Amino acid sequence: MPTRPYVIDEMISAKTIAARVEALAKEIHDTFRDTDKLVVVGLLRGSFVFIADMVRELDLPVEVDFIEATSYGDSTESSREVRILKDLRGEIHGRDVLVVEDIVDTGYTLQHVVGLLRARAPKRLKTVALLDKPTRREVDIKADWTGFEIPDEFVVGYGIDYAQRNRNLPFIGAVRFLEP
Ligand code: PRP
Repeated sequence: MPTRPYVIDEMISAKTIAARVEALAKEIHDTFRDTDKLVVVGLLRGSFVFIADMVRELDLPVEVDFIEATSYGDSTESSREVRILKDLRGEIHGRDVLVVEDIVDTGYTLQHVVGLLRARAPKRLKTVALLDKPTRREVDIKADWTGFEIPDEFVVGYGIDYAQRNRNLPFIGAVRFLEP
């Protein structure tokens, strides 16, 4: 998809993200300290960097699995219709589960995925989102842990894309469109 010309302004540095991931991992560890194994579920594609850093900070027995949901396609606007493109490989019935999301915007994606996974009767299910845009919320959902609350700006980096670009930036940046 063609994109309008834009520049990226750094919003959250790689160092600040790393410190926050470490702090989140400590809180998550405290909650799941007695687990026999924690199934850490990354929401593809945006969470692939966050989950990679998170599991390496978690001093717990973990299993890693992925689910792919999409509501945006290559657009900047949510379609509000969440589609599951790839389901988990493993069973989560009776298991401890942590869902790892990169960003909660309207909330439709997280709400849909949590509903889907809760229906499989996990023992405990918790959610962590690196970023939250509370002013954009359209459904009543909040992650159990949030890295950073951010204003309503289009962000990229640390796994998050604009039209499939910029996922590989080590920091979170705000997209600023150039005129016209
Ligand atoms: C983005 C992002 C979240 C979701 C949040 O995913 O990664 O999963 O949107 O938006 P919401 O709260 O409004 O539902 P996207 O559908 O762009 O797929 P991607 O992760 O593959 O980039």
